[in-house]
Amino acid sequence: MKGEIFLEMRGIKKSFGDQVVLRGVDLDVRRGEILVLLGGSGGGKTVLMKHMVGLLQPDEGTVTLEGKLISNLSERELSWARRKISMMFQSGALFDSLTVAGNVSFPMHEAGITDRDVIEKRVKEVLEMVRLPGQEDKMPSDLSGGMRKRVALARAVVGNPCCVLYDEPHAGLDPVTGDSIDHLIRDLAHDHGITNVVITHEIRSAFRIADRVVFMKDGVVYWEGTPNELKASKDPVLVNFIEGRAQDSDL
Ligand SMILES: Nc1ncnc2c1ncn2[C@@H]1O[C@H](COP(=O)(O)OP(=O)(O)OP(=O)(O)O)[C@@H](O)[C@H]1O
Ligand SMILES: [Mg+2]
Repeated sequence: MKGEIFLEMRGIKKSFGDQVVLRGVDLDVRRGEILVLLGGSGGGKTVLMKHMVGLLQPDEGTVTLEGKLISNLSERELSWARRKISMMFQSGALFDSLTVAGNVSFPMHEAGITDRDVIEKRVKEVLEMVRLPGQEDKMPSDLSGGMRKRVALARAVVGNPCCVLYDEPHAGLDPVTGDSIDHLIRDLAHDHGITNVVITHEIRSAFRIADRVVFMKDGVVYWEGTPNELKASKDPVLVNFIEGRAQDSDL
């Protein structure tokens, strides 16, 4: 049901060598919401997001997806979680040797779908969804940065996940293309009931799309609330972050 807890993280700790990145993160993701993760660069947002889909396992703490513990599962057992949650990576990470259609349909092949008509139909559908109709045969090198992001988004949704994680979907895009990504995320949430977690440095987008904002600092959740509560906050850490970002993005 919309609003119930979809993913629950408790006491997540993660270090790489002697670098402590996450120091005990508690976070809930609710079904159907758009949750925006903010925080300084290098603060562990991407690392945290990778824990949401089992790409990283915590040193301590638990991740529970729909009531099932996933933070102790093997790669093979995790395929269940990977069907529910897909991640759009920070770099876009398209396969340069595959066409747009090849890239977008990749998760379908992975899932063992072989019917060409089914694949073609679904690829067409998701390319229309991301406003790239008819671009099936292009190679990634022939696309603009914004188009590549949208192909990555199409690939993230092709398997009908119930949750999509976006790691900086706006990075490197002009404001108009960035806005179109925001529209897509909102469509996915509102029209398709998909749960969304978005890492972004675009404070403008955060205010526009978020149902809830989580601000990470020093490896923990420093603050969480609604966009309006964030706007109204007098906390100097949040005010500095927002004003700094607002200047960067020329608000
Ligand atoms: N696999 C890894 N091995 C070693 N260190 C890592 C690994 N993954 C991340 N780190 C380190 O963890 C820290 C947090 O990285 P992370 O990518 O989560 O930051 P971030 O908040 O996403 O930053 P940005 O906003 O710049 O993307 C960084 O210092 C990074 O070097
Ligand atoms: Mg990151």
